[in-house]
Order: sequence, then structure tokens, then C-alpha cells
Amino acid sequence: MRTAVIGCGYVGLTTGLTLAELGYDVVLVDTDKRKLSAVREGRSPFYEPGVDELLKKHFKAGTLRTMDDALEASRWAEIVFIAVGTPSREDGSMEDRYIREAARQIGRSLKSARGFRTVVVKSTVVPGTTIGTIRSALERASGKRAGKGFGLAMCPEFLREGSAMQDSLHPDRVVVGTLDDRSFETMSKLFSPLGSIILRTSPTAAEMIKYASNTFLATKISYVNEMSRLCEKLGVDVYDVMEGVGLDKRISPHFLRAGVGFGGSCFPKDVSALIHVAKGLDEPTPVMDSVMRTNDIQPRHLVDVLERMLGTLKKRKVTVLGLAFKPDTDDVRETRSLPVIKALIRRGAEVGGHDPKAALNFRTIAPDMTFFDDAATAIEWADAVVLMTEWNEYRSIDWGQHKYLKAIIDGRRTIDPSRLGRIKYWSMGSPLP
Ligand SMILES: NC(=O)c1ccc[n+]([C@@H]2O[C@H](COP(=O)([O-])OP(=O)(O)OC[C@H]3O[C@@H](n4cnc5c(N)ncnc54)[C@H](O)[C@@H]3O)[C@@H](O)[C@H]2O)c1
Repeated sequence: MRTAVIGCGYVGLTTGLTLAELGYDVVLVDTDKRKLSAVREGRSPFYEPGVDELLKKHFKAGTLRTMDDALEASRWAEIVFIAVGTPSREDGSMEDRYIREAARQIGRSLKSARGFRTVVVKSTVVPGTTIGTIRSALERASGKRAGKGFGLAMCPEFLREGSAMQDSLHPDRVVVGTLDDRSFETMSKLFSPLGSIILRTSPTAAEMIKYASNTFLATKISYVNEMSRLCEKLGVDVYDVMEGVGLDKRISPHFLRAGVGFGGSCFPKDVSALIHVAKGLDEPTPVMDSVMRTNDIQPRHLVDVLERMLGTLKKRKVTVLGLAFKPDTDDVRETRSLPVIKALIRRGAEVGGHDPKAALNFRTIAPDMTFFDDAATAIEWADAVVLMTEWNEYRSIDWGQHKYLKAIIDGRRTIDPSRLGRIKYWSMGSPLP
């Protein structure tokens, strides 16, 4: 089967490589020429384990190609995936201009296309977008009707950065939202080699499944963080408490780790977009509103505790270890390190930062701070350390050798406190120091 993927970001590249692994011919398209030339050279434009190897493998085998023209790629492909970004606007609503432009280009290709083509929306779009904005743009540009002249499906992506290939090749489920049987059959045939459950829904239900899943996961995190602040004051450890809570089969032990809150390109943006949709429907959203509020409390809370541990933050040197929003990625979108660093600077601290992969990206959004190339130098420079991302290399730090270090706050329960000697240590969710 000939497939094309429009948008070569985390989702587009992973989708393209998954399709190539399944044995299909794939063309990757992006408007960003630098991204495309990196991909052509077998280099992922972002850090993601396993991607470079698969790029090299499939370019060599000839199953993967790139094109900078969505029109040409869509003319060639039988199935075209839309995987462009849907970032937040200032008011929290979803920015749909990349989606509209991609749909318009694909629509133009459908005009002259022979044979049945299927357009698949992979991007996260607010409920109603596929059968609304996207269908209109495709129909207007092609002069054909969705479901008759071409197929249309909404297939949300559930991958996690840092384990994107693994998640994409072994999904818990494949959701296919479509109005026409032919598109469903095409998608079933395409994805059946994955061996996962394929769930058929309407396009709007598929869109809502993605938002409802992300909102649920974000809610779990904010819930555990609220419990965490209570536990800290009650003198118990929230990790002990959640071990007991998670044994309840109705709850499950996953996603019950307290910390500095959620970041990344999905949870904050998707919860905000759904709140915005609900406003338009005149429906109150007290749960989602407080999920976001709790997420804003955690970074401030961490800085409050550090201030108490050091007496003052004025002129204190604080190193932030970890700038990516999670380990095994260089993505810094909505990283919790940013509000922590801003709060530290506001209270008079000098801030240093280190990240094994994300420092370059963080520089583009960083306030006035110092960057270090290696973690040991960054720690040696500091009066205190805040651990924000649980990179593996931070687990093996020899803390004992840093004689001037006074305090550590562990935002991700990564450090073994038995190896710290006289350094003051506090991990979020444990009794307050
Ligand atoms: N990143 C994730 O972990 C993740 C997980 C699940 C779903 N999603 C969703 O998938 C979508 C893509 O996310 P991402 O993180 O891959 O975004 P991204 O910003 O990393 O990549 C989007 C790419 O699309 C390209 N693009 C924009 N308009 C284009 C056009 N007209 N033609 C060709 N290329 C175009 C951009 O240059 C960019 O490279 C979003 O809707 C996101 O919410 C992301």
C-alpha cells in the first residue's frame, strides 16, 4: 500500500516509520526543509530512541522517501495521514490553521486522483473538526464528497515521547473514527498486522476519545499531587499511600506518581482546548479547571520549600537538573522546569541548568540563566539542586563528592537519599523538611 504522512514531527515521523515497519511504502512530507534533509540523512530532527536506526534502515531499503510537496505526495499515495501540529492559541483554544492548510493541499490532489483515496487525521483535533473544518476543506478543494469520492477517517495517536516507536508499534488500541465502511475496511487492513484491538467509532467520538484520555491522565496526576501536599503536612509519604491506593483494581497503580506536575506538548494543550470547547457549549468544567490550577501550584510549592530549606533564595546558586518535560526526549514544550526557573529568578536566585539532550531547545525559551555541559560541573557550581527530569544518568550521580552542596529537592523521586550524607534532601510527596 502507498502511504503519505503530512507533517514530520514526533507523530508524523513515528507514524511513517511504523507504516514502513509494517511493510508499506511511505512518503514523508514537511514544510520545514531542515527537518526533511535531516530525515533524509537518517537523522531524527528530534531526540527519540530508536528513530535514527529505523530511518537509516528504511531509506536504505527504499521503503521510505521524502517530498517537500504535499500535493505531489498525496497524488501518489492511496492513504494520506495528516500529522501536522495543533498548538494552543493564546486563549487555550486549538490552532487549526496547519490542519486547514494540509487538508486544502490534499483536497487539491484528490481532484485529479484516480481510484479511491483515504485521508486519515492523526493530529489531535477538537471534537467536530474532522467532519467540520477538515471535511469542508477537502470537499471544497477536490469537488468530491467525503465517503463517496474519497474516504475520511480520524485515527488519534496515543504515543508517548521517549517511547514513541514502542508505543506506535504496540498500541493498547487503534481507534478508527469514520462514517464510511470503505475507509474502515482500509484502515483495518492497514493496521491489522499490529495485532491490537481496532475500535470503530464515529470521527467525533474518536476525537473525543483522545481528549478524554489525556484529560483523565492529567486528572490522575493533579489528583495525586493534591494528595501529595496533604500527605507532606500529615507527615506521611504519598508514595506509600498510593501503593495502597493503586492495589485497588478499579484505580490501577499507573500514573500515581506525585511530583512537579505535567508538561509536554499534549496534556496542558489538550486539557485547555477541551475547556475552551466546553465554554463554547456553555458547559461548566470544574474538574478540568482545577486540574490545570493544581498543575500550576506544584512548581510554586517546590520553590517555596526550597526557600525554607535555604533560609532565602537571594543570591543562592540553584542548579536545575533536567529541562526536558520528561526523560528520553529533547522536547521542552510546557516543561515544568520553566515555571520553576522563573520563580527561582523572581526570588533572587542565580540559576544554572543541565539536560543531557534538551539544553539546546531550552535555550530558545530560557530566561537569564547559565547552562552547563555536564551534570557534575553544574552541581559543583550550586548551593542547591532541583531535580526536574528523571534522566537515567542522574540516578548514578555521586552526590557525596559535592562538598559545598547544601540542599536537594527531588521533583521526580529519582535520588537514593541514603547516599547523600549531610546534604539536606526533600522529595516531593514526603513529609516536609
Ligand atoms: N508529540 C506527542 O507526543 C503527540 C502524541 C499524540 C498526539 N499528538 C498530536 O499530533 C499532532 C502533531 O504533534 P507533533 O508533536 O508531532 O507536532 P510537531 O510540531 O512536532 O510536528 C508537526 C510538523 O508538521 C509540519 N507541518 C505543518 N504544516 C504542514 C503542512 N501544511 N505540510 C507539511 N508539514 C507541515 C511542521 O513543520 C512540523 O514539522 C498534534 O496535533 C499533537 O497534539 C502529539
